[in-house]
Amino acid sequence: PFKNVENSGVFALSSLEYRHVTSPNPSDGEPTFSIIMVGASGDLAKKKIFPALFALYCEHCLPKNFTIFGYARSKMTDAELRTMVSRTLTCRIDKRENCNEKIEKFLKRCFYHSGQYDSEENFAELDKTLKEHEGGRVSNRLFYLSIPPNIFINVVKSASRSASSKNGWTRVIVEKPFGRDSESSAALTSGLKQYLDEDQIFRIDHYLGKELVENLSVLRFSNLIFEPLWSRKYIRNVQLIFSEDFGTEGRGGYFDHYGIIRDIMQNHLLQILALFAMETPASLDAEDIRNEKVKVLRSMRPLQLENVVIGQYKGHAKGGVTHLGYTDDKTVPEGSLTPTFAAAALFIDNARWDGVPFLMKAGKALHTKRAEIRVQFRHVPGNLYKQNFGTDREQATNELVIRVQPDEAIYLKINNKVPGLGMRLDRSNLNLLYSSRYSKEIPDAYERLLLDAIGGERRLFIRSDELDAAWNLFTPLLKELEEKKISPELYPYGSRGPVGAHYLASKYNVRWG
Ligand code: NDP
Ligand code: BG6
Repeated sequence: PFKNVENSGVFALSSLEYRHVTSPNPSDGEPTFSIIMVGASGDLAKKKIFPALFALYCEHCLPKNFTIFGYARSKMTDAELRTMVSRTLTCRIDKRENCNEKIEKFLKRCFYHSGQYDSEENFAELDKTLKEHEGGRVSNRLFYLSIPPNIFINVVKSASRSASSKNGWTRVIVEKPFGRDSESSAALTSGLKQYLDEDQIFRIDHYLGKELVENLSVLRFSNLIFEPLWSRKYIRNVQLIFSEDFGTEGRGGYFDHYGIIRDIMQNHLLQILALFAMETPASLDAEDIRNEKVKVLRSMRPLQLENVVIGQYKGHAKGGVTHLGYTDDKTVPEGSLTPTFAAAALFIDNARWDGVPFLMKAGKALHTKRAEIRVQFRHVPGNLYKQNFGTDREQATNELVIRVQPDEAIYLKINNKVPGLGMRLDRSNLNLLYSSRYSKEIPDAYERLLLDAIGGERRLFIRSDELDAAWNLFTPLLKELEEKKISPELYPYGSRGPVGAHYLASKYNVRWG
């Protein structure tokens, strides 16, 4: 099985120290590295994983003797896989550069094996092909499960019996969703653990690989000016906002089974919240960081229905363009109550955050695409300049905005004197716009996460106790919504979402940023 063969230390060096050569060299005695893309025919593999691997190849970050194997049921030759993959590869490092030669070299390292997901025999055939490439050297294998979750266990069971590495490490990247609630998530974890040790499982939450999410700890722990303010004493509320300006078209089947709370809040936004709110870890070691995240999650109150608003988009025509509503999608069951929007107020019952509302908002088919963290600070006590702001006291408070995407930026809203002879104040931004400050393009989240999985770095992956704690917060609410058949508030496609979200915020004296 996958267990017992971990040969840690093989890749003890930083992944960035690996250098690839243009073709595998069977006689160099160095370990081989194979990534097996299970579900290679699918959307995620094409859109994200192959391009990310190519970007790592261009950056010389893949181990020297690497090979990529696509695995899925669809019949395809190596050449057909290469044609499919080549359509989505771009030269990320410099778009003006001609990458054709690199693309060709990269594609020569890509192969395809067709097989069933529950067939030990088919995985044994894959193993045979892998061994031909490995030529008897130490072999490290990374399985990427880019498939629907209901077949994760089948794959792990079959592959562990017949395609795990016999002399190197075997690791498995698991895509979300990890279950639908506490029970199904626990079942998935115990199913995986029959064949894998926890440290072989790399549960992806790709938001943890986003540049500004990774930067959160740097901002907090390597600048003197933020951490002292990072508590209930100075922070009034924190907002975590995710919005997309498109609907679930084409993904309705998947989405209807999960809904926005499971798709975005329970994972992406909650992970950001945990990183935002955790105490200083003992070190940057993966276990120290994940210990602190778990503590935050365990200090949180499970979500209550009165602190949640749900919505669903309806069709809307604007400027001659008609957008269909969520339930107009043929893959969505008629009368579905699945939320495509949710807003929620969460609380962390610990000394640092007692009473501070953490407001989350996530929605599809809204008026903008953005992901942001907004930190609203308290009023300045006895502010000498109150009268110079006009009537709106809100205007007088500081706000720190971390714009995760698009147009990555960190800006701080401060009060400033408008230049001139009078004494009028306005709010201006101290602005760090990444595109102005840094010329290098920001890597895609999947690049960083793949690089970490190859290097055995677990910091940005979800540990099973974190996952349990996350589901414990959301499961009672999700069950109540479903049992009581709560109808979502309808909102027009392309709008700002249901008005209920504003009432929820105002209940806590918050205005959405
Ligand atoms: P797909 O639906 O495209 O599935 C991937 C492959 O799995 C398909 O090409 C198909 O391959 C096989 N497959 C699909 N449905 C079934 C089924 N019912 N039974 C057996 N095999 C099936 O998924 P994605 O590529 O979109 O996503 C892969 C994983 O990543 C999923 O867990 C998804 O939730 C997650 N994810 C996807 C994102 C995205 O943007 N697409 C974003 C974040 C997570 P074949 O028929 O050739 O065997
Ligand atoms: C995925 C969700 O995890 O994240 C999708 O399943 C969502 O519904 C996507 O569209 C958003 O990711 P990104 O990186 O495009 O913001």
